[in-house]
Amino acid sequence: ALVSATEMLKKAKEGKYAVGAFNTNNLEWTKAILQGAQESNSPVMIQTSMGAAKYMGGYQVCYDLVKDLIDSMGITVPVALHLDHGEYEDALKCIEIGYTSVMFDGSHLPFEENLEKAKDVVAKAHAKGVSVECEVGSIGGEEDGVIGSGELADPAECKAMSETGIDFLAAGIGNIHGSYPENWAGLSFDRLAEIAEVIDGKPMVLHGGSGIPLDQIQKAISLGVSKINVNTECQEVFAAATRKYIEEGKDLEGKGFDPRKLLAPGTTAVTELVKERIQWFGSNGKA
Ligand code: G3H
Ligand code: ZN
Repeated sequence: ALVSATEMLKKAKEGKYAVGAFNTNNLEWTKAILQGAQESNSPVMIQTSMGAAKYMGGYQVCYDLVKDLIDSMGITVPVALHLDHGEYEDALKCIEIGYTSVMFDGSHLPFEENLEKAKDVVAKAHAKGVSVECEVGSIGGEEDGVIGSGELADPAECKAMSETGIDFLAAGIGNIHGSYPENWAGLSFDRLAEIAEVIDGKPMVLHGGSGIPLDQIQKAISLGVSKINVNTECQEVFAAATRKYIEEGKDLEGKGFDPRKLLAPGTTAVTELVKERIQWFGSNGKA
């Protein structure tokens, strides 16, 4: 069923596990993520960046696709459809359309404006039972044209943001979008702990989940992270499996060029990665 993320993340925080939030790009990704969650009997978040939603034909298409696939695939685990790194107008649009969760990312705005807009999104979202994620202190790296500098979030700003009534908070703690550089210092657990203490028990979100070692993931969960975003790793395994299929000449055998065959190895690879990450995050069996 399509549900808001508030309850699933609250349960995750209490149960000391995290829910994976996987970015989708198309039909294959969406099926792969739903399949992985169902096979793991796990709650899941499917998220669209603004760019991916545009690519897929708009938010309405994304909403209809997820909703209809839940029915046609017989998905019984809780699924939240979430807007990832949304601008203010995009967040409002998704609330209108039926997304069950939105991220309003005002981290690039002056802080007061970020707070004001967050309050407004919360009011409109909560009126429809939609959960809200906001961000303080930007996350490093680049995702779909959204560039962040990667500084550590200020706990006082996190506290102020939490008081707007948001449901979960994304805060920079040394995490970076895309792959991590050789000389990455790792997550700042001191900062994570400081933030967790002042946000009224709200779940925290770890962006840039691709490439963080398991021990750091587990420690972050133990300190209050309940949602972990994974995008780049899904893209990497999809590309690698597709490359292998083509390099082995399978597209040239029989009807191997049929897109339903050509895209199958990549789709299976995404399902397998989703299942593996669900195990890492500990949400398997928690549906
Ligand atoms: O918002 C999405 C994520 O933060 C994805 O980060 O591409 O490094 O896994 P990633
Ligand atoms: Zn992100």
